[in-house]
Amino acid sequence: MQKVRFVNPQKQYQDHKEEFIAAFDDVLSRGAIVMQKDLTELEKNFADFVGTKYAIGVNSGTSAVYLGLRAAGVKSGDEVLTVAHTFIASISCVYLAGATPVLLDVGQDFNMDVKLIEKALTPKTSAIEPVHLNGRLCDMEVIMDIAKRKGLLVVEDAAQALGASLKGSDGTVKKAGSFGNAGCFSLYWAKALGGWGNNGMLVTNDDAVAAKVRLMRYNGEDRERRHFYYHGHNLLMDNLHAALLNVKMKYFPSWLARRKELAELYRVGLADIPQVRTPHFADDRFSDIYTNYVIRAERRDELKKYLDEQGIETLVSWPVPTYTEPVFTDPKINSEYGIPRLISSEGECNTLAHTEKICKEVISLPMYPELTHEDVHTVVRAIQAFYLRPAT
Ligand SMILES: Cc1ncc(COP(=O)(O)O)c(C=O)c1O
Repeated sequence: MQKVRFVNPQKQYQDHKEEFIAAFDDVLSRGAIVMQKDLTELEKNFADFVGTKYAIGVNSGTSAVYLGLRAAGVKSGDEVLTVAHTFIASISCVYLAGATPVLLDVGQDFNMDVKLIEKALTPKTSAIEPVHLNGRLCDMEVIMDIAKRKGLLVVEDAAQALGASLKGSDGTVKKAGSFGNAGCFSLYWAKALGGWGNNGMLVTNDDAVAAKVRLMRYNGEDRERRHFYYHGHNLLMDNLHAALLNVKMKYFPSWLARRKELAELYRVGLADIPQVRTPHFADDRFSDIYTNYVIRAERRDELKKYLDEQGIETLVSWPVPTYTEPVFTDPKINSEYGIPRLISSEGECNTLAHTEKICKEVISLPMYPELTHEDVHTVVRAIQAFYLRPAT
């Protein structure tokens, strides 16, 4: 059987090789290494795409989330509401900003269960950090409404959601990252728009947040005034990466359309398998981009092993809840950071029932624009075959 890879950056390179080589050659021939026109151009195009006033290039999504929290005003001693079912960086950045995360359970769409927000609030809560997982927005209408009423900051972890949108009750369509005080994107190579390595972007409509992030991404230095205004870091996106991302940005709208097309093929192909739940949630306010195509599957670990044997690569993100990781459970380590409060429908608790269940069931199938229809059919047929076999 043909092998279906989980990611295939080589294919994307081959498809646009001449343009990448030309961009590389142009940047190095100009000696345009740091903070040059290629970065400015990417930032302008990115801000236009998301629909914000500013976009600021950084070296990773982690840097974007960290800077977003700091620049929006999260400070030492604060509590920040986020979720457990996410990549650890969403949580780590809260600690790195000096605050304590409070982890909410998630709903059927893998995103923050917004009904839990009011249960989680304390006088220390300063911000909500919604994570738009797998290319689907959290219910930002509810989140922004609560944030306004309670005077909370909102820093969107939009690492996985560039291009995902939500139609508000007033009919306005807004994209991930454009709702809160800051929106934070990962441009890690395997993301929907990924550079050739680690990259990230922060977007905002707030002049002060933009100005602070610009300084903090490069050691607090104002290069025009030649003075240092923050104890910052070196988190700048290199100009070469920006130039290569400019090539990809041109194709990005068509890549998003392709992801939706592939997702639909999976949906139709997997619809008749009762042991599988596909990530298509009945709420047409949302337009998802399927950064990851994550299904929930019975006997997930057996299925993964079977698909491996068939030459189909998959990924489980994440097999255990983040709050069971050593960074939280090993007292030698967590004494430095502290332990987050967990909030479920029961209120404060020790485990998050839905998060735990999801961790046992999720499996991500191959999803990238270069995937062929035949690849999707191969994956679907293998999953059908697995569930037709007697259970072992
Ligand atoms: C939800 C989420 N937040 C933050 C990050 C961190 O981004 P990066 O890997 O670019 O630092 C990721 C990356 O996978 C992510 O998925």
